[in-house]
Parts: sequence; C-alpha cells; structure tokens
Amino acid sequence: MIVALNNKSNLPKDDYLKYLMKIEQLQTSSKLILCPTFLNIGLTSTNICLGAQNVSKTEEGAYTGEITAHQLKSYNVEYCLIGHSERRYNQKEDLTDISAKMKRLLEEEITPILCIGETKETRDSDKVAEVLKEEIITAIATIPKNKYNKIIIAYEPIWAIGTGKIPTLSEIEEVFSFIKKILPDSKLLYGGSVNEKNIDTLKRCSLIDGYLLGGLSLKLSELKIFLNKLDN
Ligand code: PGA
Repeated sequence: MIVALNNKSNLPKDDYLKYLMKIEQLQTSSKLILCPTFLNIGLTSTNICLGAQNVSKTEEGAYTGEITAHQLKSYNVEYCLIGHSERRYNQKEDLTDISAKMKRLLEEEITPILCIGETKETRDSDKVAEVLKEEIITAIATIPKNKYNKIIIAYEPIWAIGTGKIPTLSEIEEVFSFIKKILPDSKLLYGGSVNEKNIDTLKRCSLIDGYLLGGLSLKLSELKIFLNKLDN
C-alpha cells in the first residue's frame, strides 16, 4: 500500500525535526511518502521518500516565490501533490495551472499525485463523473500517453476532507472503476478523513492502492495503529 502523509502548513522547524525522527522509526510494509512544507523538505536528508505539496507551473526564471520541479528534483523529491482542493479553492488554481504543473513534474521524472474530488453539491446533483472526468482529462491533455502510467490519482471528495465523513465503499468503487477506464494503469489513492478507525472498512475496497492522509499524518500514535491495521 502507498501511504502519503500530507502535513499541509503544519510543523515549525523544531517540531518537524522531532516528528521526522518518529516517522523514521515507524515499522510498516507500506510505502510512506512524506509531504512536508517546502522548508521542511530542505531539512529532510533521510531515507524517507519525499513528496512536495505543490510545484510551480513555470520553469526556472523570474517568478518570485515559486519553487520549480527542477529544484524539487535537486532535493530528491520523488512525488508531488497537484490539484489539491485546498489549492484549487484557496489559491484559485485552475485546470490549466494543474495541467502545466503535471507537465513540469513529468519532465523532471517526479511522480504527480493528482488530487481530484467533488463538492457535496456536485454529488447531490449526480454530476460526480462529469466533474472528475474534466479534472482528469484537462490535467493529462498535454501528456504523452506513454506517461499516463506514471500518474497517481488521489480521489478526495471535498466534503470528506477534514470533516470526519467518508463515502460508502460502493461510492468509492464506482469512482475508482470510472477512473480506471480513463487511466487503467494509474495507482489510485483514497483521501479524506481517513483514520485508524475507518481503515477497517476502507480496507475492504480492493481497488484502493493506498491513502492520502492529512490530519492523521500529524497524529503519530493513531498513525501507528493505522499502519499496523493496514499490514494485518
Ligand atoms: P484529511 O485531509 O485526512 O485531514 O481529511 C486529507 C487531505 O486533504 O489530503
């Protein structure tokens, strides 16, 4: 299983260094991908597999405040989240931005973890497939087909992020089967309120290749229980 840990904008330097020591000691057969803030990426010279939470849509140049895929590569970043709903909504990232980021990452051979997901209104109006299809199709529009298998998709319903609510297994299965029709070789993660309790249920979905954890990434004792349950 893949387990990506999205720290979001948490953990100042000293707290992060303590956290990192504990993360390194976790025993698990899952592949952990740690996604700290950019500053904390710079502090992480360990064997832990690194992911970034964002990347610039541009190449290197006069783009104040941006961090490029090429720079991430020089810090051994192997994965990068793109299209997280918090960025789509708070930073107003649009489909074109996300498509450019996808391109930059693949040029540097960094694996994009494309986050997609619907709002509650979209689900209630039965437009989930339509919305997710657009999010995927525009993100891969400029990507050669032979690179599709390098893309990981993280399905995170927006109404499930940080709310304690999760979709039913049949809702997840329906979405994952639909994604598989577009990207048959992509690994599929589920994210949104995953915790050490609901993993017992989520584990029953055979289409899930892993999880994207937000809140749980910061709660180490619960994370430990979660990883043990995944292994057993
Ligand atoms: P959550 O966040 O696990 O806290 O719901 C997941 C995410 O936003 O990636």
